[in-house]
Formats: sequence, C-alpha cells, structure tokens
Amino acid sequence: MIEKFGVVQLERKGKGKYSVDILNEGTCSKVINFHRSFPMYERTPLRDMKHLAEQLGLGGVYVKDESYRFNLNAFKVLGGSYAIGNFLANKLNSDIKDMPYERLVSDEVKKELGELVFVTATDGNHGRGVAWTANQLQQKSVVYMPRGSSLERLENIRAEGAEAYITDLNYDEAVRLANRMAEENGWIMVQDTAWEGYESIPTWIIQGYSTMGYEAIDQLSELKADIPTHIFLQAGVGSMAASVAGMFAAIYKENKPIITIVEPNKADCLYRTAEANDGKLRFVSGSMDTIMAGLACGEPCTIGWNILESYAENFLSCPDYVAAKGMRMLGNPPNGDTRIISGESGAATLGCVAELMTNKDLTYIKEKLGLDKNSKVLLFSTEGDTDKNSYKDIVWDGKYPSFK
Ligand SMILES: Cc1ncc(COP(=O)(O)O)c(C=O)c1O
Repeated sequence: MIEKFGVVQLERKGKGKYSVDILNEGTCSKVINFHRSFPMYERTPLRDMKHLAEQLGLGGVYVKDESYRFNLNAFKVLGGSYAIGNFLANKLNSDIKDMPYERLVSDEVKKELGELVFVTATDGNHGRGVAWTANQLQQKSVVYMPRGSSLERLENIRAEGAEAYITDLNYDEAVRLANRMAEENGWIMVQDTAWEGYESIPTWIIQGYSTMGYEAIDQLSELKADIPTHIFLQAGVGSMAASVAGMFAAIYKENKPIITIVEPNKADCLYRTAEANDGKLRFVSGSMDTIMAGLACGEPCTIGWNILESYAENFLSCPDYVAAKGMRMLGNPPNGDTRIISGESGAATLGCVAELMTNKDLTYIKEKLGLDKNSKVLLFSTEGDTDKNSYKDIVWDGKYPSFK
C-alpha cells in the first residue's frame, strides 16, 4: 500500500488470549527500580498539550517526550540495558533486583565476567542503547546497520566505543547477519525482536520499555488526568507497542485504553498480519524506504505480535508525510503548549492523529476509532532529532508536505 491510509480493526478470535503476565505490575516496578539505580536516570517529561487538543477537537493530548532519556535522544536504551542486566544477572546466578547499576559496573563483576562482546542490528536508536550499556560495563559491542542508515546515527553509536558498520542489507537481513556473527564468534546477541528459539532477551527488552509506560501512568495521575481513552503506538517490529499495550492491559484490564498501532505504508508488517488475521505473520521485504527509519522493519516480533493480537484494536498504515507533519506540529505547538523536538519515528502518531481529526477524507477512520471531543489521547514521542539534517529539511524547509 503506497501513500494511502489503511485501517484494519482486528476481529478477535479470542480477546485477551495471550497472558500479559510478563508485564504485570510487580515486573514493571522491578524494571523501573533497575533503571532508577542508574545515576543518569530521570523521568522523561509528559506534556499536557491542552491547546493542541482543543485545536484538534480532542479532550486531551498527552505526549511523553523520550528525547530526554539518559541523554541518548530516544527511549530504546530502556530495553537494551534491562536485557543486558538480566543476562548478566543470570550468568552470575543472581537476580536483576540484586544487580543495580553500581554493582553491574563494578570491577568485581567485570572480573567475574571477563571480556564479553554484545552484538546487534539497528536503524540507530537500539544500537546506541546497546553500545552505551556495553560502554558503561567496559565491554565491547558490534553494531550492524541497514543500508541507507544515517551517518549521524552511525557516529553516535561509534562514540560509545562500538565497532559499527552500515551494511548493504535491509533491517531484517542485518538482524540475521548479527545473529550469524554471534553464533560464529560466541558473541551475545541483544536483539529487540524475537523469533522462534530467540525469546529471553527480547522478552527482557519488552519489559525494559515498560519504564516509559509506568512513568506515564504516574505522571497522568499527578496531572489528575483520567486514564486515556486511546493510545497510539508507532511500530517497527512491534516490541515497544507490545510493551505499552500489554502493560496497560495488565494494569487496567477491561478498562484499558483503545490501542491503535501506527506503521509506515512501506513497512506495515503488523497491519498486514492483522489484515490477514489467520494466525500467520506477514512480512514486508525490500528496501522499505520510509523516512520513519526506526519503523522500517518488515518482520514482526513474535512475542510482540502475541500481545498486540490480544490487546490492540486498530492497525493503521500511513504515508510518510504524517511523520513530517507530526514533527512540525510538535516543534511548533499552539501558544501555551510545550515544544517537543521529535524525530520521524517519534512524531508519526501525532501526525496521524492530526490527519484523522482534520482531513475530511479520513473522517470514516476517525469514526471507526471513536475519536471525538471526549477522547483523551496518550502518545509517546519515542525519539528526538536523531538525524539533525533530516530534522532541518523537514521542519525548516518543509520537506514531505501534506497533500490534501
Ligand atoms: C524512535 C523509535 N520509535 C519506535 C520504534 C519502534 O519500536 P519497535 O521496533 O519495537 O516496534 C523504534 C525502533 O527502533 C524507534 O527507534
């Protein structure tokens, strides 16, 4: 599907059939306690975009700004750090609750573990998080990026001491390369997606992301805001979306918000899987040349899909211009709202919601999703300007305008 909006409402064959126990409140508080032990930990802001909500005809728009996460400009480090923490805790016959930052980075632990190499494939953000964590632990990392990856993102990964390369492969092929290198060299594969036989690390990664949702729940309650009626979640392989959807389902049960997954047209593997709805995953292959680099993934995460199949109501396939529009809107919100620097993958959901609310041709989708003046919408701006040149091209020079 090219340059069009597509919507699929999942006809459930068993609502809530997948247990979200991996994201229950006990686990989520264990995860956030691990992250709180990092000296650079600070809650990222949750912005109440009151005026924007009013302009769009919504009851509320709340945006979590992950550009502040650990000074890394994206949420991804939450997953990689928690997975590596658990992996090492297991290796040392310990529990993650006994492995706070101070112990993880201690000389004593380094001595016990010896030299390790962590390897991954990434469009940028996940690799930076893995490289950063390895660096904190004084361990090595190797990172493979898909063709066309941004040089700025490559340099940011190298700045964490990683050996990093832009390959000639697409994202899913780069994942297979990383896996082969891990097997051949005895390296530890830290991938943010699961497949049959590779599930422990991605489960920890999904759990690791829950800190973002957990903080948001606290912040909404501090704002005395109601539970959101809708959450829009951008997806590459679907691990992040599964983390937030699963966590809200585990905590709020039948009162959970309506979950809508947003993907670029050119990499809409979850949308296609939902459309087929026959229990089999659908893949997208080829170059997947969307501006939403973090979402350019063609093969769904198996564990993530199990959660989304049970707890996400809607799947949207969107053109690239929605991401550009979201970046411009968040960077220049109505007077009185706080500005958010959001990158292509971070801003996709706001751009999409704005289109649904204002583009008459899309009224039928707005109605299907039940969006109106009573809707309280929660969004996650999952990255800042992780590619500054592209940010300028889009926000200053108006690249990727919206066509009506
Ligand atoms: C900024 C950003 N947002 C969202 C995502 C999507 O996460 P997932 O691949 O788990 O669906 C990514 C993935 O790399 C990302 O970098």
